[in-house]
Amino acid sequence: MLHDKLAQLESALGSSILSQINDPELAPYQVELWLKRDDLLHPILSGNKWRKLKYILNHALSLPGKPVDTLVSMGGVYSNHLHALAFVGHALGINTLGIVRGEAPATLTPTLTDLQNFGMRLQFVSRSDYRTLREYQGSQELPGLKKGQYWIPEGGAHALALLGVGELLAEIALPFDTLCVPCGTGTTLAGLINQAPASVSVLGFAALKNAGFLSGDVHQMLTGAQDNWLINHDYHCGGFAKTTPALLAFIDRFQSQTGIALEPVYTGKMLYGLYELIKSHYFKPGHRLVAVHTGGLQGNRGFALQEEG
Ligand SMILES: Cc1ncc(COP(=O)(O)O)c(C=O)c1O
Repeated sequence: MLHDKLAQLESALGSSILSQINDPELAPYQVELWLKRDDLLHPILSGNKWRKLKYILNHALSLPGKPVDTLVSMGGVYSNHLHALAFVGHALGINTLGIVRGEAPATLTPTLTDLQNFGMRLQFVSRSDYRTLREYQGSQELPGLKKGQYWIPEGGAHALALLGVGELLAEIALPFDTLCVPCGTGTTLAGLINQAPASVSVLGFAALKNAGFLSGDVHQMLTGAQDNWLINHDYHCGGFAKTTPALLAFIDRFQSQTGIALEPVYTGKMLYGLYELIKSHYFKPGHRLVAVHTGGLQGNRGFALQEEG
């Protein structure tokens, strides 16, 4: 059962429609491309953020004993995850503490400013301490956690996140052949693999360079012995949050062709890679693809600043 406060939040979300991408550039390849518009769920709780947090929050709100008064998590200075968590904490009337990678910048990024405005307390830690925090997965595992505090690992990469992500599949009424999704921690990919019919191939696009560990991580999150999935490592464009002129040109063209906004860290890279695969005849004519727009558009503010700087 979903906690009342969460059910109320969910009922106010927008609907994640399936948009067909009618792009003349794809016409010669005779594949059908649809975008699952999770970016439309909410301007902040967008994409995979609500899906991942939903059952984690439900667990936090339903624990017996002292109620959870503070949600604690970690992220970078443009973290979509902390952004969503700070917003949701504010909406639920629960305190939030964000452990942020690196030294406090002289000028806060727009994301960090939002976090503060949503009432999140920020604690900056060195990059090596930050790496250590990645070891703690369980909601009570973080050393030094106080009573009433609840720990959520980086990116919401928690077993409970898989349930919410998997709900996306039931919203796709159309039969299709391949489901594509960008990967950071691989949690979203794993949640989708767990619920995808065996007839569907699930294709993840790694946003990080040297992410060979991802397959093992995803494997551990699977509920069965599914083998209908693959992670493509060819379109990280130099590494996490790195861009290339070709990626940026693709995003510009896609946005003006379709009117759908992208960001270059996750969905932009996935679609760039997917277009390249389509153009190399990776998919047979008649193939129907559904790609998930995982939102995160607030992160675009970091790129505008970098270009100006
Ligand atoms: C917008 C967006 N898309 C995709 C991902 C990748 O999700 P996951 O870490 O579950 O692979 C993230 C990170 O959480 C994200 O912020």
